Amino acid sequence: MTNNIMGFLSRTSSVLVVIISCCLVGVALAGNFYEEFSLTWGGPRAQISNGGRQLSLSLDNTSGSGFESKKEYLFGKIDMQLKLVSGNSAGTVTAYYLSSKGNKHDEIDFEFLGNLSGDPYILHTNVFSQGKGGREQQFYLWFDPTQDFHTYSIIWVPHHIVFLVDNTPIRVFQNSESIGVPFPKNQPMRIHSSLWNADNWATRGGLVKTDWSKAPFTAYYRGFNSIGFPNSSPSPSSKSFSDGNWEAKELDTKARRRVRWVQKNFMIYNYCADLKRFPQSLPPEC
Ligand SMILES: *[C@@H]1O[C@H](CO)[C@@H](O)[C@H](O)[C@H]1NC(C)=O
Ligand SMILES: *[C@@H]1O[C@H](CO)[C@@H](O)[C@H](O)[C@H]1NC(C)=O
Repeated sequence: MTNNIMGFLSRTSSVLVVIISCCLVGVALAGNFYEEFSLTWGGPRAQISNGGRQLSLSLDNTSGSGFESKKEYLFGKIDMQLKLVSGNSAGTVTAYYLSSKGNKHDEIDFEFLGNLSGDPYILHTNVFSQGKGGREQQFYLWFDPTQDFHTYSIIWVPHHIVFLVDNTPIRVFQNSESIGVPFPKNQPMRIHSSLWNADNWATRGGLVKTDWSKAPFTAYYRGFNSIGFPNSSPSPSSKSFSDGNWEAKELDTKARRRVRWVQKNFMIYNYCADLKRFPQSLPPEC
């Protein structure tokens, strides 16, 4: 009897061990870079490491590098943790964006413009719909993006696009189709990222050049996560945006307050306020 119980217990526990290890592996494989991404250019400068849990891109005096997602997305929430080029990153640009193909393409951009050691990166954002962009907003960050990984997210749903940094919404691009502004909603997009030399414009408008004696320059990626949301029906959830209901039609008061905090303290350029550029009238969505 006792032997039977012991035998049963040990069989059960080995089954449990198998189940537990299977599921831990399953968790570890979520967002695996080998499965989710292809290294597209730059040869050995783009590398996946740590069993698929980390990816790095490098830039040297001969080439940058890049990757793209194997899957296409049509709406969803996409999170990636990035740790940007540290030290003197002036002249370098790390772009992380969603884009469709073709000449009337849609695109949702994060671009990180490097700087001299100790001087702030600029986070540049833009939205293209049907081939037309020109909707830049730029920010300083409230932390040093080269010291640690931080999460950069895009929420793309039929009613708006939200850019988030560490879950703080920094920008909302509303669907303004009702006043004739095209909104990205028909073309699936892939995730792309690249690290390249842009010292003709990136740092202080091109005044500060890349210091090649500091090469290679390297940016790191981990913690990729995507949640699809393939239809336009409003979410039945009664939770608010700030409580994790990212499909919510509108940001709640708390999230709107966060956006205002970022825009008041960290926004350094807003196309919607650029009267020199748009002397006749600002774009309609503004
Ligand atoms: C690029 O950098 C390498 C290593 O520092 C150096 O040997 C080479 O001359 C450089 N090439 C160019 C085109 O500047
Ligand atoms: C780099 O630092 C300078 C000086 O603080 C600042 O004006 C600029 O906005 C910073 N960022 C970039 C990308 O030029």
